[in-house]
This record gives sequence, structure tokens and C-alpha cells, in this order.
Amino acid sequence: RGAAATTADLAGRHVVVSAGGTREPLDPVRYLGNRSSGKQGYALARAAVARGARVTLISANSDLPDPAGADVVRVGTAVQLREAVLKAAADADAVVMAAAVADFRPAVYAPGKIKKRDGQEPEPIALVRNPDILAEISAERARPGQVVVGFAAETDDVLANGRAKLARKGCDLLVVNEVGERKTFGSEENEAVVLAADGAETPVPYGPKEALAETVWDLVVPRLG
Ligand code: CTP
Ligand code: CA
Repeated sequence: RGAAATTADLAGRHVVVSAGGTREPLDPVRYLGNRSSGKQGYALARAAVARGARVTLISANSDLPDPAGADVVRVGTAVQLREAVLKAAADADAVVMAAAVADFRPAVYAPGKIKKRDGQEPEPIALVRNPDILAEISAERARPGQVVVGFAAETDDVLANGRAKLARKGCDLLVVNEVGERKTFGSEENEAVVLAADGAETPVPYGPKEALAETVWDLVVPRLG
């Protein structure tokens, strides 16, 4: 799809994209995080702006420049991401969860820096589950016909795990990446298969994250209410 071929097929639509990776603080200077760069989510946001959408980009700890024309909301933790997504999703036609959400957070936040003590082994870090944002917005659609898209990175049994995850989350589309050396984290390129709740499977060949972004919107548009 070249720039000249871009159609405004998202004109009049509000889409919400989450991007980046959440960080779960242990103390004022430390956190549990992940390696998501935000590139795929930012590419989705830029593509949606180009296709005429009003775009809310909810960015978790990404260093990337704000996409021109998108409303950018910055968050840190999974709990903050959930708040921002639920708020923005209230009047959204589509929600795409490209962010890597930490499954767990430290059970306690130490308000002062955790110090080591002579001759003492460290305490284990107790974790609690974070809310599953994708499952929640899929189960409670803020408006009828709202299209919900998830992402999944899998290392083994990619298709079988992807199908099971799509059903478990209850979303309309799940973009499944096979995680490998060159792929996904921090790279410019991506290879994926997009699974749909209606059974459709769309392979996306190895290529730029921009191309995957366009394919996602191509699949969202005909499903919009
Ligand atoms: N997700 C979410 N909230 C969470 C965890 C994940 O909204 N607490 C979303 C992600 O943004 C992504 C999708 O769910 O769009 C799939 O994430 P993934 O980590 O693959 O799913 P999990 O259910 O956490 O499964 P796993 O145990 O394999 O990590
Ligand atoms: Ca997870």
C-alpha cells in the first residue's frame, strides 16, 4: 500500500491503540518490565491517522516520538494502562491492544529504596496478578460492534496457542507473532498470522511493522459496526 493508495476508510471513527510495555515498580528506583519497544503500536497509530481515524495512543514507557495527529496518553503500570484504555474505549469503534502488559506486579511497593544488609540473603519478591485488560474490554464492549484486537507473541505451537488465546480472550482478532532472533523485540520487521474469531486466518509475511499495521486495519474495517 503506497501513500497515494491510502483511503480514508477510518474517517469518522475513533480508534484506541495501546503500545509499549508496562513497568511495575518495586521501589522508587526499580521495576519489573519487558522488552517491548512500542514500534508496532506506534505504526498502528500512524497508519490509523493516515486512514482518517481519530486516534488515541496509550503509550506505556515508549521512547518513540508522538505520531502526528494522534492524542497520546502516557502511562507506566498495567493498572494505569487499564484505566486509560477503559476511559478511551468508552466511545471507540476499535481497540487494539499492542502493548505488552506485565502479567504480575510486586505485591508490595517499598516507598524507600530496598537496601541490602550484611550477611543477609535477599527476600523473595512476592507477585500478584494484574488485571487482564484485553479480556475485560472484550467481555464488556463499551459500544455494540466495537472491534477488539489483541496481540500475542508465542515461541511454540504458535497457531494452536493463538487459537486458544483468541477464544480465551474473547477478542475479534488476534495477531500472533512467532518470537525469534530477528523478530519482534526492538526490530523493524515482523512476521505474523492474524486469527479471527470467525475462523479467518491471514498470514502476514516477514516485513516492516508498517505493513502489518495496514493489514490489521484492513481486517478491522469490514468488521466495524
Ligand atoms: N493483555 C492484557 N492484559 C494483561 C495481559 C495481556 O490486556 N494483563 C493483552 C496484551 O496486550 C495482548 C494480549 O492480551 O494484546 C495477549 O497477551 P499475552 O501476554 O500473549 O496473553 P496472556 O493471556 O498474558 O498469556 P501468557 O500467559 O501466554 O502471557
Ligand atoms: Ca502475558
